[in-house]
Amino acid sequence: MSAPADTGEAAARAGGGAGSFPLADFLSRWADCAIQDLAASDSQTLHLSTLLRYAGTEDLRRWHGVGLGYADPRGAPWLRAAIAGRYEALGDGGVLACNGAQEAIACVLRAVLRPVDHAVVVVPIYGPSELAVTGLCAASGVALDPDRGWSLDLDRVAAAIRPNTRLVVANFPNSPTGASLGPATLGGLVALCRRHGLWLVNDEVYGQTDAGGGAPAVADIYEKGVSINGLSKGFGLPGLRVGWAACRDKGLLDRAIAQKSLLSSCLSGPSEVLAHVALEMEARITALARSIGRRNHRRLRALLDRFPDLFEADLPANLAFAFPRFRGAEGAARFADTLARQAGLLVAPSTLWRSPLAQVPDDRLRIGLGRLGSGPALAALEAHLLRLTSSRGSAACTG
Ligand SMILES: Cc1ncc(COP(=O)(O)O)c(C=O)c1O
Repeated sequence: MSAPADTGEAAARAGGGAGSFPLADFLSRWADCAIQDLAASDSQTLHLSTLLRYAGTEDLRRWHGVGLGYADPRGAPWLRAAIAGRYEALGDGGVLACNGAQEAIACVLRAVLRPVDHAVVVVPIYGPSELAVTGLCAASGVALDPDRGWSLDLDRVAAAIRPNTRLVVANFPNSPTGASLGPATLGGLVALCRRHGLWLVNDEVYGQTDAGGGAPAVADIYEKGVSINGLSKGFGLPGLRVGWAACRDKGLLDRAIAQKSLLSSCLSGPSEVLAHVALEMEARITALARSIGRRNHRRLRALLDRFPDLFEADLPANLAFAFPRFRGAEGAARFADTLARQAGLLVAPSTLWRSPLAQVPDDRLRIGLGRLGSGPALAALEAHLLRLTSSRGSAACTG
């Protein structure tokens, strides 16, 4: 069943600061007995030896001499310079390097939001981001519209703004829907935020695998725009734990550093060097990720076309995952559970993105397509669907 787009409300501290993260719970429940490739949204990872083969002379020198003491809390200057170089409008000092995008989001939200504030959250959004907001202040959700290609209705955003609204937080390109903002909507959103003096924090971690051309970073087009990104998704390097916040407002980043000092303090030196290598090789690394994603999307498309009673295929929006509608009578959540139990295979039902702020349709499956292992996993999914449609079952994994 598809839910209509909706605007919802949540009382201050709706998450209580200690809400749960259903996606993480789901993955850990099946961690020991199910293949995770179709539940993952990160692209094919690289081994240390491969990354080091990509390293230039300067990075090799850094690698062999890297210290293991506390590092610069903002990130090494050469790492920040490489990150800033990805943006058009950032001068020196426009970047805070963090332990993953998740820490960058937390630092920025804590730096901006006070208990008397209100925030607008575009839903669906990464669970920890939503919980970070609702743990800090009151929030309203604005749902992407499933019946209009997951578009964002700016009138709904405008209607959600209150006198004490301080920030809009979103995740475009979006997970799990894959939605991106076109230039007109993005420009309209920035204009709306500017009119009301709001911060616009956009989590752009899926930008490298956006199937379209990719939208500009909000830090480049808005003086109060904060772009969150990192190496965990399209670079396939979540183990480095390197993410960042990019913003033209130095005062905000200073406040975010103060928050970081309460969390991880600094990055690990070896990760900083390896992150720099990866950024220097971005074109090569992300081209590989995109080609793997494209190939797996074609495989998925062929598979879903064989089971039209069970799936409604949609066009690839993000190369790292798909988000088709599941038509089976048992519903997406139960299908995912049965798939894990019987075939040892994980896909992420859209119920894992449920939000108290706005409705998220419960009839979708996010299917990860960014890894080499997604190919064999799709073959296993097909075998399960054939068993299912011929009314045969098997039992293996208990979760
Ligand atoms: C939308 C989104 N933002 C942030 C993160 C966290 O990224 P990191 O591992 O770099 O902290 C994730 C991880 O799944 C994500 O999906």
